[in-house]
Amino acid sequence: MRVTVIGVGRIGEALVAGLCRAGTSAESITVVGRSMERTFDVAHRHGVRVADLRNLPGECDVLVVAVKPQQIEGVLTDLGSALRGSALRPVVLSVVAGMPTNRIEQFLPSVVPVVRAMPNTPMTVGAAVTAIARGAGATEHDLRLVESVLESVGEVLRVPEDQLDAVTAVSGSGPAYVFLVAEMMIDAAMTLGLDRVTADRLVTGTLAGSSAMLGVGDVGPVQLRAAVTSPAGTTAAALEVFEQSDIRRTFRGALTAARDRSVELSGVGRPPLTPASADQH
Ligand SMILES: NC(=O)c1ccc[n+]([C@@H]2O[C@H](COP(=O)([O-])OP(=O)(O)OC[C@H]3O[C@@H](n4cnc5c(N)ncnc54)[C@H](OP(=O)(O)O)[C@@H]3O)[C@@H](O)[C@H]2O)c1
Repeated sequence: MRVTVIGVGRIGEALVAGLCRAGTSAESITVVGRSMERTFDVAHRHGVRVADLRNLPGECDVLVVAVKPQQIEGVLTDLGSALRGSALRPVVLSVVAGMPTNRIEQFLPSVVPVVRAMPNTPMTVGAAVTAIARGAGATEHDLRLVESVLESVGEVLRVPEDQLDAVTAVSGSGPAYVFLVAEMMIDAAMTLGLDRVTADRLVTGTLAGSSAMLGVGDVGPVQLRAAVTSPAGTTAAALEVFEQSDIRRTFRGALTAARDRSVELSGVGRPPLTPASADQH
């Protein structure tokens, strides 16, 4: 499989690293960046090729767009022109938050299939969970190609595109919630008299170990929590304080705010490009 990655920041480079780890040959991976220094540095470290948008590789199965949301329109404009001037017909995989597939499609030749993905930063350690949604022109074969790219950095699941804002709130932003819990536990541990290094090791190990337990077998979080909680014991005393603080409502509110912000940023309600304006892109 030949993969081109446009935008080699944190997510783009993590994908390149994952593909190399998973055994995709480095010669079949090409990176396209903006800062030449950064792009050649990534290419050198992973042994992959470099191209630019006006000079894409002659063959490419999946073309990943991994630039920031404010950069995507410029990149798609150039990509649309490049694809119109060539016989290349890759699946375009956007990991960019916000822009829906029907808008991405307006920049590209109509025969180019588009798939959108919402990965998360555990991708950098090969432990992402990524949701993908197909654009109108993407086939089962296109989805399988995209899955084989993204499975190099973790787990992949399919969702309807209208669920991607909820996915963003859960797994896209989710690592930050876990890091906040880690930060709060470390602070609380220090108020109990533990030094920072000890607190840090205890909390990090607890979160890593507990996450590993969540991923094993059929036992879910409710049973795992019950197994640590003896009646009137220490864990029960802590959990009662959490419940009294209405932590569940706080979580629902936080995830709803993230989902609503994702909807807002995706510019739903923005007028679609007309064929004439699309030509200018
Ligand atoms: N980070 C997350 O948690 C996360 C999770 C899910 C999805 N995403 C999505 O992933 C995308 C990338 O995020 P990131 O954290 O990897 O961002 P990032 O580190 O800022 O990387 C973006 C890269 O795109 C490059 N770029 C900008 N304009 C370009 C152009 N015209 N041609 C080629 N490359 C160009 C930038 O190069 P320069 O440095 O030279 O400007 C930069 O290296 C974002 O759209 C984000 O929504 C991120």
